[in-house]
Amino acid sequence: MILCESICKTYGKTDSSVFVKALEDINLNIEDGEFVSIIGKSGAGKSTLLKILGTILRPSEGRLIIDGLDVTKMKPGDLSEFRNKHIGFIYQSFMLEESLTAIENVALPLMISGLKKKEYVAKALDMLRMVGLEQRSGHKPSELSGGERQRVCIARALINDPSIILADEPTGNLDEKTGKEIMDNILRMSKGKTLILVTHDMDLAAMAPRKLVLHDGKLV
Ligand SMILES: Nc1ncnc2c1ncn2[C@@H]1O[C@H](COP(=O)(O)OP(=O)(O)O)[C@@H](O)[C@H]1O
Ligand SMILES: [Mg+2]
Repeated sequence: MILCESICKTYGKTDSSVFVKALEDINLNIEDGEFVSIIGKSGAGKSTLLKILGTILRPSEGRLIIDGLDVTKMKPGDLSEFRNKHIGFIYQSFMLEESLTAIENVALPLMISGLKKKEYVAKALDMLRMVGLEQRSGHKPSELSGGERQRVCIARALINDPSIILADEPTGNLDEKTGKEIMDNILRMSKGKTLILVTHDMDLAAMAPRKLVLHDGKLV
């Protein structure tokens, strides 16, 4: 379970011109295996909230508790290990390593976990097969289409079998047809997992049994 207790996030110093209150008093409870969508206008704080849920960002105030563990108190090293194991991130802009091939990108979380090469190559190839990309395993991101890059990103997000999948506008850079295929991939691969989807596509958001709306940093 994911529990947000009075989470606030500010950027910049209080009296500076770059000061922004991105999130205000977020209280939220997400059960294991739930599929939740988050919608809201640009600048509403959606990405900030997702980064906090994904332990990439620390809240300025409040607590984030995942499976009974207060992650806001964890040391950076422990936190990145926790994140690598439990959380899969899917980004609008894919965030792939341009210098690495598709299979190396997918294998990255396993390399970080210290798996042997033979094992991580086999597992990464399996993941690429699951998203229908085994024929592209040796391609660099620049040699792949947008939809293919996103499938590499999905395979990478899921390779450690995380229990939580966070997707930030995963279809935002794709045409409608490719976007649909990508959503099908995400839904299929995150069965039984907690899925939190940020989108401003109302049709996509409506696929989730639970829809959250962010407005000016607050849940409404
Ligand atoms: N690194 C940052 N430094 C300063 N302000 C930021 C930073 N990231 C986001 N913001 C600001 O915080 C607010 C929320 O941003 P964001 O979470 O990206 O919104 P959304 O994803 O809903 O478009 C915006 O006003 C944005 O300008
Ligand atoms: Mg955003």
